[in-house]
Amino acid sequence: MKVLIIGSGGREHSLAWKVALSPLLTKLHALPGNPGTAALGENLPLKVDDHGAVVRVSEQRQIDLVIVGPEAPLAAGLADDLRAAGFKVFGPGKAAARIEASKTFSKQFMGRHAIPTARFGAFSDYSAALEHLRRVDYPVVIKASGLAAGKGVLIPEDKPRAEEALRQVMLAGEFGAAGDEVVIEERLEGPELTLLAFSDGMTVRAMVPSQDHKRALDGDLGLNTGGMGAYSPVPVCPPDVAAELVRVALQPAVDGLRAEGSPFVGVLYGGFMLTDDGPKVIEFNCRFGDPETQVVLPLLDSDFLEIALACVEGRLDQVAVRWRNAAAACIVLASGGYPGPYASGFPISGLDAENENSVVFHAGTRVVGGQVVTAGGRVLGITGLGADIRAALAAAYARIESIRFEGMHYRRDIGWRALGEHP
Ligand code: AMP
Ligand code: GLY
Repeated sequence: MKVLIIGSGGREHSLAWKVALSPLLTKLHALPGNPGTAALGENLPLKVDDHGAVVRVSEQRQIDLVIVGPEAPLAAGLADDLRAAGFKVFGPGKAAARIEASKTFSKQFMGRHAIPTARFGAFSDYSAALEHLRRVDYPVVIKASGLAAGKGVLIPEDKPRAEEALRQVMLAGEFGAAGDEVVIEERLEGPELTLLAFSDGMTVRAMVPSQDHKRALDGDLGLNTGGMGAYSPVPVCPPDVAAELVRVALQPAVDGLRAEGSPFVGVLYGGFMLTDDGPKVIEFNCRFGDPETQVVLPLLDSDFLEIALACVEGRLDQVAVRWRNAAAACIVLASGGYPGPYASGFPISGLDAENENSVVFHAGTRVVGGQVVTAGGRVLGITGLGADIRAALAAAYARIESIRFEGMHYRRDIGWRALGEHP
């Protein structure tokens, strides 16, 4: 199979790494890709948002399967445009991608299908939002409804700060157009985890649970980021809990989207909080998580291409999805300043050393004059593998020792909840 992966982050490098292990693969392409994907196939230096160009290059290269990594092209209808041109695409169409692209749609959808989630109100009018905020008697979180790269959520300490947050999002345009509409949600408490699932529009097959670390700094302090690290499996989510999450949320979501005329083919991301009142959906995403993919795919024992093809062809119920009985941890190495403004272009050293217990995934990097340099907020994801989480973390942190770039920062406490102690 000739495969095209759309995207250029750590998630896409880990997808490419897993696809490259498949005996079904004849040639891998990434668009636009990064230096990590370039080592596994050919990068096509095109713009993802030029759908016409993506279709044309897929025709020229006779692509058998397109895998779309990020949410933005899915929300923009890239999967629809490729399907209309006759291509097999692993990733939902625009209508189904609304489960992530519009938090307002997503919350109302969960309401229609009795999927457990926090109480909420959705507003495009500031004074109506403010009135709602003053009326509710519970602590809230304030979310930009549109796509905001994982950063569009504010968790104010009290009511005055909630009003300030609302002004920031709706009046000051903190998250741009994503904040023209807001969702004001009841603030929940409990351990958080990610459960990704393959779907062919009908059948749902959960992956191993994982846990992301969204805050920038150790101890879960600092600003929300796209994700600073992840690990899998997750002690608070043994198989019976994962099965419950599929039963109450992931399967009803896939069934609901199909019933509403927009079947979901690809990976459904469930972000959950395990509250005293039962599990609740914090968010759905319409694609693999980043950096969750960097820990989940290395634990997949089955052929990813075989599964992806089965999803696209509506026969996921006929393939085995097996997992290794092991653990993985990923540490994100970020640019100084991220998730705020940061400088780029710093040379990265120490990438070459191979190690069978770790993998270096490129995220925000590029090659200038033969040298790999920083080119994004999240620069690299270092995944360690081991028999348990402690061993996986040790392998990842050991690999980081030899990697350097100016301003590099990373969390030293990834996985602490699984270990039961804060370092
Ligand atoms: P989201 O982009 O919706 O996943 O939100 C980002 C992060 O904000 C989540 O991972 C949670 O840690 C936090 N968060 C979102 N919604 C809530 C909520 N209703 N209650 C408490 N924390 C939340
Ligand atoms: N790691 C969070 C996300 O992919 O949305």
